[in-house]
Amino acid sequence: MNKRILVACEYSGVVRDAFSNVGWDAWSCDLLPTESEQTKKEGKHIMADVRLILADSWDLMICHPPCTYITVAGNRHIPGNPDRWKKQYEAIVFAWELFSANVPHIALENPVGVLSTYIRKPNQIIQPYEFGHSESKKTCLWLKNLPELKPTNILKLPECGYWDNQTEGGQNKIMHNGKWLAFNDPLTAHLRSKTYTGIAHAMAEQWSQYLMKQ
Ligand SMILES: C[S@@+](CC[C@H](N)C(=O)[O-])C[C@H]1O[C@@H](n2cnc3c(N)ncnc32)[C@H](O)[C@@H]1O
Repeated sequence: MNKRILVACEYSGVVRDAFSNVGWDAWSCDLLPTESEQTKKEGKHIMADVRLILADSWDLMICHPPCTYITVAGNRHIPGNPDRWKKQYEAIVFAWELFSANVPHIALENPVGVLSTYIRKPNQIIQPYEFGHSESKKTCLWLKNLPELKPTNILKLPECGYWDNQTEGGQNKIMHNGKWLAFNDPLTAHLRSKTYTGIAHAMAEQWSQYLMKQ
């Protein structure tokens, strides 16, 4: 198999590397450089506006458009703030440009947010703790010609009653270089946006098997 996948809006290389490791001609694209040593070595990261390469004959595209302006939590900043509203509008149009691209199989990933209203309801909502990570992060998947992901390793909530990336009070927390970052640290959002490896492996395994049968 040498099918071509584009992982749009990915700087971590997590999904790209997972597909490359099961035989795909796998490319990532982001405005940022890739952080993955494997992706760098294979030379398969394009640093550009992904809209410029959507028409380049991909078999599958997995997209992670920015969610800053389209989460439900962000909606409260919109009334009386036209600049914020414009950013939300542009973020919705961007997500739609990706999801409506002329690629036969597409998965679009985003947290719970306004895309459910403006695009449609997601096909499924997954959690990292269904794929072997003791963490919680509700993630919606909108799928075009792809089956829903099946959980690979469902973990139980720890006895303390909250997941490893949550505080007792329910706020998000994340560790970086051995230190806990504050929820409002600019690095927190960047690190939190990385795809979980367990989810990336499930996508690569399950969707490769599905597409090989096509
Ligand atoms: C929510 S993050 C996704 C991170 C991803 N899950 C990962 O593991 O790397 C959104 C990403 O979209 C990128 N981005 C925003 N606009 C873009 C564009 N027009 N073309 C390509 N990438 C873009 C940002 O630089 C950011 O890295």
